[in-house]
Amino acid sequence: MSLRDRKIIVTGGPTREWIDPVRYISNASSGRMGIALADAAFAASRETVFIHGPVEAALLADKPYRMVSIESTEDLLAAVVSELVRDSVLIMSAAPADYRPAQRSDLKIKKDADQLNIALVKNPDILNNVAALRLENPLLNTIFVVGFAAETHDIEEYARAKLREKNLDMICLNDVGRAGAGFGVDTNIITLFMRTGEREELPMAEKRELAGIIIERIEKELIRRGF
Ligand code: CTP
Repeated sequence: MSLRDRKIIVTGGPTREWIDPVRYISNASSGRMGIALADAAFAASRETVFIHGPVEAALLADKPYRMVSIESTEDLLAAVVSELVRDSVLIMSAAPADYRPAQRSDLKIKKDADQLNIALVKNPDILNNVAALRLENPLLNTIFVVGFAAETHDIEEYARAKLREKNLDMICLNDVGRAGAGFGVDTNIITLFMRTGEREELPMAEKRELAGIIIERIEKELIRRGF
């Protein structure tokens, strides 16, 4: 079954974890890679949905696909799970916050104390949850899951470990320590690793161009593996 007959779920952008009514924990993800992937997915699929955290509104203007806006990592998990269907492709390019404040204060925290400690608790890992769902539900055996790894050191080891541990079909390694890669810029440097062991280094290119190549590689991999 080709991508033309499949639903593609793309996630992008950061998540936001509120500390009090005026402050939150987040990260530097702009959502640009996710939007580029959703654009390329829309051109190749039966249906595309883009689930995104808070990103610049102008980046989302006039998009032809359905968009679901979320704030926290827990919201993102719920949205991803509710969109998963048989034969879908999930591309997790979002940068979910790994931790959230143990408590969200209803009132603004005043600067009375000289030192303020905020306890954080771990957020759910969306890809680990999807891996567990896949094991539980045979209907989801046919989904194809793509993860991203944003790394600054020991990059290939971490990418391969994430591919294995999160039970992914493919992982896109993003060397965020290099100029021209990662957060807030229009270009990226990506190496692809497949579940089946192949490794492919893509040239530094515009996120739009890389997104097209990633979607092509997903299609190729689906065909090669007889999915
Ligand atoms: N991811 C996820 N759920 C999270 C955090 C990350 O599903 N709570 C996904 C990301 O969307 C990405 C992949 O896991 O596709 C790897 O994300 P990354 O931030 O590189 O790694 P982490 O798993 O968060 O591990 P670490 O921060 O320790 O590198």
